[in-house]
This record gives sequence, structure tokens and C-alpha cells, in this order.
Amino acid sequence: MQFHAVSGSASRKRSDCAIVGIYESGELGTAATELDRSIGGLLGRLVKRGDLRGKLAEAALLHPEKGPVQRVLVVGLGKKGKFGRKQYRKAVAAAAGLLAKSGAREAVSYLSVEPVADTDSYYLGRLAAEAVTATLYRVPAIRSTRKEPPATLKSFSIAVAGRGQVKEAEHGLDHGRGIGAGMSLTRDLANLPANVCTPTYLARQARKLAEQHASVKVQVLDEKELRRLKMGAFLSVTAGTEEPARLIVIRHQGGKSGEAPVVLVGKGVTFDSGGISLKQPQNMDEMKFDMTGAASVFGALKAAAEIGLAANVIGLIAACENMPSGRATKPGDVVHSMSGQTIEVINTDAEGRLILCDALTYSRRFKPAVVVDVATLTGACVVALGPHLSAVMSNDDHLAEEIVAAGRRAEDRVWHMPMGEEYHEQLKSNFADFTNSCGREGGAITAACFLAKFTDGLRWAHLDIAGTAYLTGAKKGSTGRPVPMLVDFLINRH
Ligand code: BES
Ligand code: MN
Ligand code: ZN
Repeated sequence: MQFHAVSGSASRKRSDCAIVGIYESGELGTAATELDRSIGGLLGRLVKRGDLRGKLAEAALLHPEKGPVQRVLVVGLGKKGKFGRKQYRKAVAAAAGLLAKSGAREAVSYLSVEPVADTDSYYLGRLAAEAVTATLYRVPAIRSTRKEPPATLKSFSIAVAGRGQVKEAEHGLDHGRGIGAGMSLTRDLANLPANVCTPTYLARQARKLAEQHASVKVQVLDEKELRRLKMGAFLSVTAGTEEPARLIVIRHQGGKSGEAPVVLVGKGVTFDSGGISLKQPQNMDEMKFDMTGAASVFGALKAAAEIGLAANVIGLIAACENMPSGRATKPGDVVHSMSGQTIEVINTDAEGRLILCDALTYSRRFKPAVVVDVATLTGACVVALGPHLSAVMSNDDHLAEEIVAAGRRAEDRVWHMPMGEEYHEQLKSNFADFTNSCGREGGAITAACFLAKFTDGLRWAHLDIAGTAYLTGAKKGSTGRPVPMLVDFLINRH
């Protein structure tokens, strides 16, 4: 897809499809008003008849008989005073959804000339390119017959009010295209079934990323190396499976060579059966998504490479399966983490923290500026925040706030949750330094407290994306979150 920014009036610009907005009050948006003059007042008549209502993200495709455009795609903008970046993004996505079903090859969106609260041309471009890419995304479904033909849309432009804003909007579009590409990679990896997307497969995809981008270098560690590093916690999770585990290091070298990197650590459990503490069958298929933290680290690095981010970023991916077998770790087993601390494994289903703690210890060798881990870590987080917001917990309030702000700007929101001594109490063990699991109360927080025990002296934040990483039910599939937030965070640190 090509993305461009243009300036100029809707009534004079020829195009395959013009996207304009109307408000819930029936008031035509700026560009719609202008365009309507050149198409004989069609929009005004349809509003009067009650055929166009302006409800947010309701979209209709019209074919005017005269005027400069082949098609007019009218999108509802909702209440006029409430049109902010969230509504803007929804409206663009709705337009893209309808475009995908049309025969249009090129579209110009005029939604960006409406007053959008709290934003600028850069974000108008970025959010649009990202929304279009995300809407046109198709899951890598493994079917015996082809289902839908590919969309004909080749070019998507956004209009800006003046020539002065074209550059800024194009910069945003370019970043949005990069973030969109990152999200698509995340979604592809996460949507693949666990019999395809194994730790070995992830390692191969990392190597592919390095082949595609000059700024990216990859290193893959196998189990022999994990043993040499004394990653007893990580190895205890992979003990029950036949699939070999991998620790994958992906570097994007965009900054100066001595500059301290941001390390993103991803939970890459390619299937989480629970191990000996076996899960219920209900929705167990969704545990193929338990590597979405890792997939989002892939996505963030892909985006960083695509936009030529001027910073050093290292992705550290702990990839393995969690399976029961005669060799599997048993409840009550005590394991030695790479940090030297010992862990009593109360519940083999609390495996994410066991692989992450060794990855966090490994991250120290990069002398990171900050470490952010990303994980579908707890069901408790889904209970706490639902499918809407990710959780962030950190040993540095300023870092947590930076992440919350990035989530706001990127429309990929995050909520700051607490940690504290009270919660650490719950992880006490009679047989080791601490346990890997305790009661259900405050489960997302106690999981973060477990990880915190491995982050002394690091500036660290933990993202629990168990609720936001994928949709369940009829729309089951990866969302590509939190790639937009992660990339915004990386961009705005500089
Ligand atoms: N991968 C799960 C968390 C999860 C649950 C993600 C539901 C998405 C949806 C994680 O490994 C897990 O099983 N966590 C346990 C921890 C408990 C045993 C302390 C949980 O949340 O039940
Ligand atoms: Mn689990
Ligand atoms: Zn898990």
C-alpha cells in the first residue's frame, strides 16, 4: 500500500474515491460540504431523507453521477464535540473496511481536515496508515480453498489543511506504515497454530527479519547454551516437551554503537497447556497465543527497522512449550534460576514468569537503559482490565508513566498497576527462596512482584497483555497490540 499526504480542496481534486465525514447531528463535515457542491447536493439530500445519519464509524459508499470523484465514501463521525483521535481512528478503519470490499484502487481521506481534538498532522497520518493496514490485514488461514480475493486498494492518501502540513503528515504516514507492518508480523506469528509456530519456527523468522533489514542482527541460543548459562527456571518449563527451546536475540542497531539499548523481553510460550498443572479444555486452543509477548517484540523490532529508528533496541525472546510428560517439572519441584535465586514451583501453569526471570537476568549483559518485558502473563489481568487496556507495573514510576503516555498517544492504552512489599509476602516458600505462584488475589500484581525479584539495579517495566493481545469468540485472533504503544515509546525516548 502506498500512503501519501495531499493538500487542496475536495471539490476540485479528481479521485477514485473521496472519504468524507458527517456528524451525528446531520451536519456535513468541512470537506463533505465542499464536495457536495460539486456533486449536485447529493449528500445533503440523503441526510434530509434520513439515509445518512453520522453515527460513529457507520459508512456508506455512494456513486455520484457528476463531479470529480468516482466514489464518495461517507463515514459517520459521531458527536461533533467528541471527535478525538480514538474516533478518528475508528472512522478511518470503518472507511478502509468498506473500501476493501469495493473496487476502488485509490482513495483520498478528508477526515483529517476535520478538527480532531488533541492531535497533529503527524498523528493524523500515523493513525490513518496504521488503521488502514490493520483493517486490510488477513489472517494466515490454512484452508484447502481460497476464500476472498485480495483488496484492489493500492493507494491511500490523507488530505491536510495546508501545504505546510504535508511533510509532517507524510512523516506520520511513514511511521504508521512501519507500525502497521510490525503489527501484521505480530498477528501472523500469533495467529499461526502451535504445530507450525514452534520455538524453532520463531528462530527462523528472526533470521528472516535479519535478512530483510540491514540494521537487524540475530543470534539464537539452543538448550545446550541455556544449560551453560544455568537458566534452570527457563529449562524447567521446557522439560516436558519434545520441542526444543530457544533464546532469540534480535538487535536493531539504529543508534550510536556505544549507546545503551532498550531491551524488550518477550514471553514466547508457543503453547501453554499448563504442564502437570494442566489447564481446563475450555479455550485451551487460545494458549497458542501465549507467545504474543514475543510476537509483539518481533513486531516492534520490525517497525523500528522499517522506520529507521535512530536508537539501539534489543529484542530478547524466551521461546518454549509448556507440556506435561514423564519428564515434566512437577508441582513442588525446586529450580535454580540463572540469578542464583531458588524457586519452588507450586504451579507449573505459572510458567511465563519462570522463563522471563532468566531472560531478565540475561538482559543485564547488554547494560540496558531500560528493560521492558511483554507477556500474556496472568488470567487475573484479564479479570482486572478486560480486553481494553494492558497493565504496566514497574520499579520506576517515571518509566511506567512514560509507557502510559505512549499508550495514550498511540491509542493502545495501558493502566499503571501497583506493586509493593505486601504483595511480595504472598510468594514466601518453606522450601526455596520463594514460590512461583500464590493465591488468586492480586494475581497480576504478584506475578509482577515475582519478576521484580530479578530486576535489582535495572530500570524495568512489565507489561501484562493477557487481555489485549488477542480477541476471543467470533473475532478470535491476534490484535497486534501492544506494538503501537511500544513503537511510540521507542520513538519518543529520543
Ligand atoms: N498464559 C497464562 C495466562 C493467561 C490466561 C493468558 C488467560 C491469557 C488468558 C499463564 O501462563 C497462566 O497460566 N497463568 C496462571 C497463573 C497462576 C497459575 C498463578 C493464571 O493466570 O491462571
Ligand atoms: Mn500458564
Ligand atoms: Zn502462559
